[in-house]
Amino acid sequence: AIERTFSILKPDATRRNLTGKINAVFEEAGLRIVAQKRIHMTRAQAEAFYGVHKERGFFNDLVTFMISGPVVVQVLEGENAVAKHRDVMGATNPANAAEGTVRKLFAESIEANSVHGSDSLENAAIEIAYFFAGTEIVG
Ligand code: CMP
Repeated sequence: AIERTFSILKPDATRRNLTGKINAVFEEAGLRIVAQKRIHMTRAQAEAFYGVHKERGFFNDLVTFMISGPVVVQVLEGENAVAKHRDVMGATNPANAAEGTVRKLFAESIEANSVHGSDSLENAAIEIAYFFAGTEIVG
């Protein structure tokens, strides 16, 4: 089925001017960018977005990293978009990421891993609504 998923190009990607190269990987995989904006998250915004991880040891470092520079938040649409996006991103830790994936190609570390993607269709809807109004998404 045609799905929508939520994506973030993280501060390590914007810092190295890689947003176009990463978007090309997404588009070549058949994902369509139906909404996109560059923002600099506040600490409160990042803490709320990553709320499910707040008990994890890496939470504070993760939030500090995510507000260390601008990010690009996106809605990607396509056939089986949630799983397709996760496939093309590669494993969370770039050391484990498959050849040709965004994280294998570009990520610096498990923290500075260039991209975030929703892990389920249910979370995709929640994450999209956190950053985008319905009128900003043009399919
Ligand atoms: P993301 O998909 O954005 O969701 C949570 C993020 O935490 C994850 O990508 C990683 O970039 C980051 N992270 C940092 N350290 C760790 C860790 N030790 N284990 C898992 N995720 C980590």
